[in-house]
Amino acid sequence: MSQKPECKTEGNYIVVPKGLVNVIVDETKISGVDPKGESTIYRGFTIEDIGENASFYEATYLILYGELPCEEELKEVKNKIDKYRGQVPEKVFDALKHVPVTHPMYYGIYGASLLGQFYASDWKFDPDFLYDHALRLTAQLPVIFAAGWNLAHNGTFLRPDPTKDHAWDVLRMITMREPTELEARAFESTLVIYMDHGFNASTFTTRVIASTLSDLYAAVAGGIAALKGPLHGGANEKAMEMFLDAKKRAEGKGVPLDEYIEEYILEKLAKKEKIMGFGHRIYKLHDPRTDVAAKFVAQLKDGDYWMKVLKKAEEVMWREKKIPANIDLYTAILYYQLGIPIPMYTPIFAMGRVVGWSAHYIEQVLNNKLIRPTEKYVGPSGLKYQPMETRCRK
Ligand code: ACO
Repeated sequence: MSQKPECKTEGNYIVVPKGLVNVIVDETKISGVDPKGESTIYRGFTIEDIGENASFYEATYLILYGELPCEEELKEVKNKIDKYRGQVPEKVFDALKHVPVTHPMYYGIYGASLLGQFYASDWKFDPDFLYDHALRLTAQLPVIFAAGWNLAHNGTFLRPDPTKDHAWDVLRMITMREPTELEARAFESTLVIYMDHGFNASTFTTRVIASTLSDLYAAVAGGIAALKGPLHGGANEKAMEMFLDAKKRAEGKGVPLDEYIEEYILEKLAKKEKIMGFGHRIYKLHDPRTDVAAKFVAQLKDGDYWMKVLKKAEEVMWREKKIPANIDLYTAILYYQLGIPIPMYTPIFAMGRVVGWSAHYIEQVLNNKLIRPTEKYVGPSGLKYQPMETRCRK
């Protein structure tokens, strides 16, 4: 923030900027951007540190409980996640067999709601109960996304294998093939770096729903709906569609993509189009999550080629607009390298972020105040109801 913000008031009300830009709405101990604006902090650790070194289970424990687990705690959290992954109610799979083919984020929205119908009828605000459901939802949401997608597109799906590692098993269920260790670790690291990010739009949505004392499943269904939009999670899909469009055009012209991408971006900017995978409300210089993803992109299929394209795109955007790449630019390529269908990119974001949504849900309900801002009404007033025959004048 370059300028000191002005606090506007009207009568007894505080008027905040549109989009709540630069507005602090509450405190959290879960995650946030560090005071220098250079990294995201997960419970005291930088996101790069946790993204590079922590397993999905360790990071889940950290985000939910506030510290890295000791061996016993890790074993317990792993056992629970793996067990719950194998316990998605059969009726949920039945329901997924009878829905239209839609964007797979809908499988998550109604999948979370369906799980709520099984588990949330006698909802409690006891911490042990809440943490248990957080682990259950974290374990089961990816199974629903993968089953929904594969039923719709392949007519069949793979059941979870609770004896396997969570990230490996989820990637297997999505792609319907056994991943290598490197692929599973690359995938796992993206789940970890997507896990939480302060009061982003979907987390804030989840907290608003939590503040009404609704249950976790309903709150997360709302979070998934917010994440679906292209200005939030949907950007990783749009970024890959952009790369594939550019690749096709480059091939048509007989030019390598890492050369053509400059012309492609400049054309879009000239038309005032946004380049998906660039820009961020908080990171104005650099998104540190891209560093974690970049290490894996370089090691996966066609790594050198994609790194050249990414670096060129970043160079052009920085030169032209001073806008850095965000994590979605890198995960778009990483998921493409893993052979994941593009519409599943945002669901994968949700498979990681469900941990953060759950932690924020718990933090909110255990120290609750209903989130209910007020508005400034600028429409007409004083109108009187008119009978139908006097209304249409054309
Ligand atoms: N491409 C081109 N121009 C951009 C881009 C972009 N990706 N992002 C911002 N700008 C420009 C805007 O056009 C605007 O220019 P103007 O002042 O001349 O009108 C200026 O930069 C400020 O942009 P805002 O959208 O107002 O900035 P804000 O902080 O509200 O937006 C946002 C952040 C929504 C992420 C924006 O950068 C964007 O739309 N990016 C593309 C979508 C995207 O990649 N989203 C993923 C975000 S990360 C995540 O959710 C994990």
